[in-house]
Amino acid sequence: MSDANTTKTPLRAGPSGALTGAVRVPGDKSISHRALMLGALCVGETRVTGLLEGEDVLATAAAVNAMGARAERYASAPDGNTWRVIGCGVGGLSEPENVIDMGNAGTGVRLMMGVVAGHDMTATFTGDASLCRRPMGRVTAPLERMGAKFTGRDGGLLPMTVKGAAEPLPIEYALPVASAQVKSAVLLAGINAPGVTTVVEPQPTRDHTENMLRWFGAEVTVQDTARGRRISLIGRPELVARDVAVPADISSAAFPLVAALLVPGSDVTLKDVGLNPLRAGILTTLREMGAEIAVLGAREEAGEPVADLRVTAGPLKGVTVPAERAPSMIDEYPILAVAAALAEGETRMEGLEELRVKESDRLAAMARGLAAAGVKVEEGPDYLVVTGSGGKPPRGGCTVTVDLDHRIAMAFLVLGLVTEQPVTIDDGDAMATSFPGFAAMMQGLGADIADI
Ligand code: S3P
Repeated sequence: MSDANTTKTPLRAGPSGALTGAVRVPGDKSISHRALMLGALCVGETRVTGLLEGEDVLATAAAVNAMGARAERYASAPDGNTWRVIGCGVGGLSEPENVIDMGNAGTGVRLMMGVVAGHDMTATFTGDASLCRRPMGRVTAPLERMGAKFTGRDGGLLPMTVKGAAEPLPIEYALPVASAQVKSAVLLAGINAPGVTTVVEPQPTRDHTENMLRWFGAEVTVQDTARGRRISLIGRPELVARDVAVPADISSAAFPLVAALLVPGSDVTLKDVGLNPLRAGILTTLREMGAEIAVLGAREEAGEPVADLRVTAGPLKGVTVPAERAPSMIDEYPILAVAAALAEGETRMEGLEELRVKESDRLAAMARGLAAAGVKVEEGPDYLVVTGSGGKPPRGGCTVTVDLDHRIAMAFLVLGLVTEQPVTIDDGDAMATSFPGFAAMMQGLGADIADI
């Protein structure tokens, strides 16, 4: 795994000719984690096609294997990325023998803490330098109310030991921050609680956990109330194994998509992209900016909407992105900021306080990197304002420190395709977290990205 102690592979992106072609970006990270975890709690064998084989998801596969489930790649499957998970049933996982290293995976560790919280067992989690800086208190607070106990470093940081509850209590929990990870951790613990576990979220967040729980046979109800969205799960369902088709990740597709919008003459199709409305805020925003994005062949797979996206290059204009939209595009602000750098006028992005606790402080990282590339940018406590060049290539010619953040790495490689001078990132390996093969896929579309 990419860590401060391993050798880094720098990469450089330079001004490129038109990007063309049709590609399928890797599977959705959120759905892949959940398919492995819920598959591990089912009775029977779940076949997962299109699983993201990125480091984060492989860490989750190793975690469920360490707890007695069997998650493995189908060697004989005709198409790649097909896995099977043989589950242990609700409450059936067993105590791991060793410390579990979740690498860079915030979703992986927070959701697995929920899984362990609902089991009578003890597990210790650690991660890379980035994960060990990220706050865990947001999941430990509700899970403690359900009966789990946590011992971590000062400030609620990893490494952390979870002692799960023998008899988890169903709770009602109002999320203090709009976070799908926290909601999911509570629901995953609630699977093994006798009674109804309820989460109320101030703003709707991605609902893959709810969708997949239903897919496997649990009863989940959702109500919009004055206090927010109220999600209730009836505990101790029998989860029955069922195949899952993982769509391509919109959060990964956003990088070639914005690249195609910015590089003149481009025409790129992104296949099988998951278009869950609670994830698709980036499309709303880019369209408001003037982007041409056609949705082709819309369909549903495993309870999730999916379609192909055809994108052609064209001019963009600055917009204000309201805070309420943040949960539906929370991972897309780095690449949106790159789109904004080439738009005509100012783009103001509001309600971004959560970006400070992602794989890196993304608000600071974007402001620093864009300024180094000659882009006018203002960083506020919870907002970012980027003044675009109106299509004129910004200067570039800088090296960006990735700080173990895959999305910072990809965002600045995309910027380098449209700057006067190339942009270098210090650590190309970080991208393996969510998008193994990013550089090769972009090269295939015509991007000038190379090792240095
Ligand atoms: C995720 C939720 C989001 C997102 C992350 C994946 C998930 O985090 O940033 O990449 O799969 O539930 P938060 O829940 O912290 O907003």
